[in-house]
Amino acid sequence: MIVQHLLPRELFKGNTVFVTGGGSGINLGVASNFAALGANVGICGRTQDKLDRAAVGLRGLNAHAGGKVLPVAADVRDPAALDAALARTQSELGPVDVLVAGAAGNFLCPAEELSPNGFKTVIDIDLLGSFHASRAAFTQLRERRGCIVFISAPQAYVPQAYQLHVGAAKAGVDMLMRNLAVEWGRYGIRANSIIPGPILGTEGLKRLSSPEVDERARQVVPMRQYGSVHDIGQAAVFLASPLASYITGTVLLVDGGSSLVGSALWNQTVETLPRGKR
Ligand code: COA
Ligand code: NAP
Repeated sequence: MIVQHLLPRELFKGNTVFVTGGGSGINLGVASNFAALGANVGICGRTQDKLDRAAVGLRGLNAHAGGKVLPVAADVRDPAALDAALARTQSELGPVDVLVAGAAGNFLCPAEELSPNGFKTVIDIDLLGSFHASRAAFTQLRERRGCIVFISAPQAYVPQAYQLHVGAAKAGVDMLMRNLAVEWGRYGIRANSIIPGPILGTEGLKRLSSPEVDERARQVVPMRQYGSVHDIGQAAVFLASPLASYITGTVLLVDGGSSLVGSALWNQTVETLPRGKR
């Protein structure tokens, strides 16, 4: 359920939200929840077609508040491309109030088989990409006394087999978040992370699961169910809203309690999963 049913439908009217990786999955769910509350929304990713398709749906959500949507291709590994995307966002939508850093890459790979470039690629997208986005948005966030929401992952805290690269990258993201909370608090900029649990219908879950693993995993998640992209969207909206005006430097688990049960089941079943193309 999109939050428009629970909060004022124009809560973010006149505000601009920029979402990296916003063309699909969880990040698109986040962008949709902001759009439903009237925000102008900028989304970036590497694939213009995918962004254009996502933008059509977003325009249907924020039209009631006269909201605008800007789909702009940019690879988060390229700081100049992000600078250009944020500059265009400012000129077409207004200065950014909320940055959501969600672009990420993932694949399963045993540590001893992971190539230096495989490790570097995930660090580059998840960790450096989050830094590049924060840096590119800083001036606008300072002007608006805005906030950043990082989309982290449980691997940042719970080691999981075949996820060495992701664990290192996302732990880095959460420490980056804390450092920014310390340094940019003086400008009124807040920074927080969300850790999603397993989220239905996403590329991440597809890459890290199978119907058999899902069947067993659902039985150990304390809430006995997987989450939806809107569960994460609702948490992001909360963190960006006045309800969270004194919350910074925090990691919000939105995972039905799944982190409480550790990764033992995962580590036992990971061998049964397809590794994906390389
Ligand atoms: N297993 C092991 N290594 C892999 C791999 C796999 N399944 N997939 C990619 N790699 C390695 C490649 O072999 C390459 O290393 P090498 O040069 O030593 O051979 C390195 O990672 C980069 O691969 P490449 O395909 O050039 O990267 P890319 O920049 O085009 O794509 C990925 C980035 C690999 C993360 C790709 O999966 C992607 O685009 N993901 C985005 C979507 C996604 O992951 N969604 C889920 C988010 S949770
Ligand atoms: P997804 O749909 O593949 O989302 C990743 C997005 O990032 C895609 O839109 C992708 O678009 C973009 N992206 C990838 N590399 C990029 C780059 N170099 N530059 C710019 N954009 C790039 O997968 P998802 O599962 O929804 O994951 C979204 C976020 O949630 C990620 O941060 C992930 O770590 C986190 N997460 C997911 C789960 C889950 O259950 N799915 C659980 C915990 C955390 P392009 O390929 O077009 O660039």
